[in-house]
Amino acid sequence: MKVLVIGGAGYIGSHVVRELLDESYSVTVFDNLSSGLRINLQPEAAFIHGDIMRPEQLAAAMEGHDAIIHLAAFKAAGESMIRPEKYALNNLNGTINILNAATAAGVRRIVFSSSAAVYGEPEYLPIDEKHPTRPENFYGFTKLEIERVMDWYDRLRGLRFAALRYFNAAGYDRRGRVRGLEQNPANLLPVIMEVAAGTREKLLVFGNDYDTPDGTGVRDYIHVSDLARAHTAALRTIDERDESLVVNLGSESGLSVMEIVEAARRITGEPIAAEITDRRPGDPAKLVASAATARELLSWSARESDVDSLVETSWSVYRR
Ligand code: WQD
Repeated sequence: MKVLVIGGAGYIGSHVVRELLDESYSVTVFDNLSSGLRINLQPEAAFIHGDIMRPEQLAAAMEGHDAIIHLAAFKAAGESMIRPEKYALNNLNGTINILNAATAAGVRRIVFSSSAAVYGEPEYLPIDEKHPTRPENFYGFTKLEIERVMDWYDRLRGLRFAALRYFNAAGYDRRGRVRGLEQNPANLLPVIMEVAAGTREKLLVFGNDYDTPDGTGVRDYIHVSDLARAHTAALRTIDERDESLVVNLGSESGLSVMEIVEAARRITGEPIAAEITDRRPGDPAKLVASAATARELLSWSARESDVDSLVETSWSVYRR
């Protein structure tokens, strides 16, 4: 099977490409390298330097492919509240360009990187796919809208999609084959790694007065290689069942900010300065996924999302 991975030079995309290649798929990466990195391109995959805002480039890229994995998007939830136009154009219009190019070319299978951001403030835990969807930022809204458009394309054009709602992606390929570092990261793990590596002075811990065991925020961190594995499982499942899916991807266990900081201090041997500051607006105390649907439909569950795997695989990249 030949798979076009749009956004395949990004952090999650390059791990998905690795997994596809390891499973003997033939892979083409399509990426504009706006945040994706050349260093993330895997030698066995073909590469098209293209942009999802250019329909003619997408139309040419579809040629000879059986399925698409689409991970090309802006993903900074905070920025999406200040620059919604950027997110509307690229995440919404860009995806519609992809869907139109795919259906015109007869490509009717797509795996889409959605997000736990579609749920907003949790009403109950763990969060399953039936949880109300009330995104609290524009980024999450774009992901939810795309799911709805894909649902109509399923009905009207026979498109079969898997919308994978990622919780907090973290970690790196255990074998060191992905080495790109995100520029100006805001997510917790890369920030901690920059402090450990000495390129950032300290971690700001956004609040220690939450209703959680140690007062710091709890999230469901999922190892990026576990995430990647779910994409090949999703391709198989939409094929076998000939129906579309919406699936959470999480580890089903919560880690607090300070639990990760302590693991990072132990594993790196570095002091990792951490200063408690105010809560970050919009941050819920705790988010944990139910992965029951993924288990049932994809025969998938997390294998390497324990805190030591997340930190060790990240550190092996950052220490260089
Ligand atoms: C994790 C925890 C912070 C940085 C975001 C997006 C979401 C998704 C994933 C998708 C929280 C705390 C963090 C820091 C800290 N994006 N923290 N100091 O906010 O759960 O999710 O990324 O594509 O849509 O909102 O992830 O890594 O920013 O934060 O104390 O410098 O770490 O408060 O408890 P978040 P995060």
